[in-house]
Amino acid sequence: MESAYHARNSGGKFCLIYNFHPSKSVYLLAITSCHTPMDFAEIILKNRSYRRFYEEQSIPEQTIRELVNYARLSASSGNIQGLKFYLSTETAKNKLIFSSVRWAYYLKDWDGPTEGERPSAYIILLGDTEIHKTIDVDVGVAAQSILLGAVSMGYGGCMIGSLDRVSLRKKLEIPDRFEIPLVIALGKPKEKIVIEEIGEEGNIEYWRDEHQVHHVPKRNLEELIIHLF
Ligand SMILES: Cc1cc2nc3c(=O)[nH]c(=O)nc-3n(C[C@H](O)[C@H](O)[C@H](O)COP(=O)(O)O)c2cc1C
Repeated sequence: MESAYHARNSGGKFCLIYNFHPSKSVYLLAITSCHTPMDFAEIILKNRSYRRFYEEQSIPEQTIRELVNYARLSASSGNIQGLKFYLSTETAKNKLIFSSVRWAYYLKDWDGPTEGERPSAYIILLGDTEIHKTIDVDVGVAAQSILLGAVSMGYGGCMIGSLDRVSLRKKLEIPDRFEIPLVIALGKPKEKIVIEEIGEEGNIEYWRDEHQVHHVPKRNLEELIIHLF
């Protein structure tokens, strides 16, 4: 079996060295301290919801498996681990998935990415009802691990909860045993996204400007922190 060794350099100070075995997911030979707080903040900032990609830049299946491995190693309520993952890196499958997902609710005059700017891979999160019925929080935890991992590797993506589940199940022949809580679209981002402060009017809707830059309003920190006593 082939295994890949990775060594990442984070700003010259720390290094992460690990082994990922593609079929058995044997993982983490050695970790030295890897990311400085600055590195982590950068990943968080870069981890935007990307919806336009360099579609021709494929993502290797092994990379997608590595991202799922991040989800596997993440927290799970009661450690039940009721999530399963459907992977797609092939054009034909990607097309099927694309036709079932809905993009950017607030961009009313945009029908989603055009050909050439569509995701080059997808991870579909599935809830295995034979293991557990409630997987809501686990879905968010797993999805965030996958997306942060993707950003750390130079990719990006978007969680998609608005989808035609009936057609997706049919097209991919997903058995009834599995719920379909979320799809994650992945690729090499081809768009600039800027974070904005929410204005006085309190509008949380994202928008695109005339240069196709995507703007995402975020509430400010003081508004989020509640002082009760
Ligand atoms: C649970 C969840 C479901 C989402 N579903 C969709 C979706 O169906 N389509 C879409 O284009 N974006 C979807 N998004 C992305 C949000 O629109 C995005 O997170 C929000 O606009 C803030 O942008 P940011 O992720 O860059 O901070 C979803 C995000 C989350 C967390």
